[in-house]
Amino acid sequence: MNRLRRLLLAAMLLSPAASALAEELPLMKIWKTPTCGCCGVWVDRMVEAGFPVEVTDLNDLTPIKLRYNITPRLSSCHTAEVAGYVVEGHIPAEDIIRMIREQPDIRGIAVPGMPIGSPGMEVEGMAPERYNVIALERSGPNSIWARHNDN
Ligand code: CU
Ligand code: CU
Repeated sequence: MNRLRRLLLAAMLLSPAASALAEELPLMKIWKTPTCGCCGVWVDRMVEAGFPVEVTDLNDLTPIKLRYNITPRLSSCHTAEVAGYVVEGHIPAEDIIRMIREQPDIRGIAVPGMPIGSPGMEVEGMAPERYNVIALERSGPNSIWARHNDN
């Protein structure tokens, strides 16, 4: 088999899996500040999980927080939108994927602040913090979507 045919065969074998993965997860639009390192690591985690991403760097995220009604108490260092949901902060990909699959009637999910040990916030030599992923309810009090390091 010559080199070209081998390459074509490899492409045929690889592409169905690759495109199925890309089709499975919708585009995630992410807004972050250009200097934030932990945001960049979180974006890498989303890409590793299979999300196609569109990243916009802004010096001031205030207009984005207002657009998605993220109050200071709920806010973190980056904001994203995927499948019509807002995704605020260092949320594990698995929690986002479960939301997309289950389609709950909520506005989105948030991890306020920047808990140590959340994706993109791993700090060597520091124990992971316990944190909750908050479900942003359309009305009434918010609820808990997922708990982490709760042991
Ligand atoms: Cu951060
Ligand atoms: Cu961030």
